[in-house]
Amino acid sequence: MAEPADEAAVGGKFVQKERIKYSPEEEARLERQHFWRIINAFKFYRAHVQDRVQRAERQFLSLPKHHQDLLPGVLSNLAHISQCAEHNQEVLQAIVHNSLHIFENMEYSEREDPRKARPSSTFDMDKLKSTIKQFVRDWSETGRAERESCYKPIIQEIQRLFPSDQCDVSKVSVLVPGAGLGRLAWEIARLGYICQGNEWSFFMLFSSNFVLNRCEKVNALTLYPWIHQFSNNKKSCDQTRPITFPDVNPQSLPIDSEFSMVAGDFVEVYNNSESWDCVATCFFIDTAHNVLEYVETIWKILKPGGVWINLGPLLYHFENMANELSIELSYEDIRKAMINYGFHIEVEKESMLTTYTENDRSMLRYVYDCVFFVARKPTEPHSNGQDDEISPSAAKSPRRDDVDYLT
Ligand SMILES: C[S@@+](CC[C@H](N)C(=O)[O-])C[C@H]1O[C@@H](n2cnc3c(N)ncnc32)[C@H](O)[C@@H]1O
Repeated sequence: MAEPADEAAVGGKFVQKERIKYSPEEEARLERQHFWRIINAFKFYRAHVQDRVQRAERQFLSLPKHHQDLLPGVLSNLAHISQCAEHNQEVLQAIVHNSLHIFENMEYSEREDPRKARPSSTFDMDKLKSTIKQFVRDWSETGRAERESCYKPIIQEIQRLFPSDQCDVSKVSVLVPGAGLGRLAWEIARLGYICQGNEWSFFMLFSSNFVLNRCEKVNALTLYPWIHQFSNNKKSCDQTRPITFPDVNPQSLPIDSEFSMVAGDFVEVYNNSESWDCVATCFFIDTAHNVLEYVETIWKILKPGGVWINLGPLLYHFENMANELSIELSYEDIRKAMINYGFHIEVEKESMLTTYTENDRSMLRYVYDCVFFVARKPTEPHSNGQDDEISPSAAKSPRRDDVDYLT
């Protein structure tokens, strides 16, 4: 059974806020500041997109009249994009509304008019637009194929290793670090396993709290995830096509299921030794400053005999960030380090083709050639030359609402 990370009562049913372990006032202040920065980004969205649309309008109107006359539909398509942005803003507003008291054990006292928004950075706006696309991946029918390629292999492996006809799955604990909008963790819990998702980004946490706790009606909500993409559209209407969500009722988990989401940095939150039967990482390990820190943490928190299942690429999130530690190891090197730790690699596929929040009508599409592995922590103690102490985390910025997968 898992020893959940110091869980406190929650605002939403599925979200818990892990208290900051080391809480000097400065860290708390930065955390608060960050919280409000992300709330503000959600509120600033409409203005940001309108600005972009107006730029496109100005450019078009600067063309010679005879060029404009060739395409009378361009301005009305831009007006349509504006309307879609208005609609997206309504959903984002609902997310904000449900986020202000998201953590029961953490107060981010309100300090400003919830309707007003200050300009946000391009960086935060990019992150918000990626979060909107994450709804497609995790909670729409459109994302089904992508989930089949990313989540299904992990789920199948869990079912193979912990089959319901041979063990009591309600006693098997699975941790999903970097859970995004929570679909993988939710699917695992739906099968009867104890499952906890862990997530660091407020963009993701606010959004997963909303979908998991506030969206019961299947496909009742609409988003326009592709309106921000002005290039590589085959048809104008591709840019404004909607998706609906959630494709399933997130509240439909079996009554006795054990599913939770815990907020915080994976390496800081999870330090109880030998707590989990399985750790499942999907598009996660490259979010580390130092991936060996993740290997070390997973080694520590797995029970003897426990398994680590991983699928993903190695698009190191901090690679191009000034003043951030970023150790970019090849898979070959990570594998070596895992074996030196004592992991036994039981399953390994070095070429699993997947996508990440793919726009399937775009003229530019990225494919990730992912590695997939199942690595077991042996039951017998192993001398790996490492003691079980986790070394202090590498220097890092207070929050990682930052780097993105190419989409
Ligand atoms: C590329 S996304 C993958 C999300 C999800 N697993 C999926 O496959 O859609 C990586 C996620 O890890 C989260 N993350 C990054 N560093 C983290 C950390 N130290 N602790 C917890 N989550 C983290 C990010 O916020 C992001 O949501």
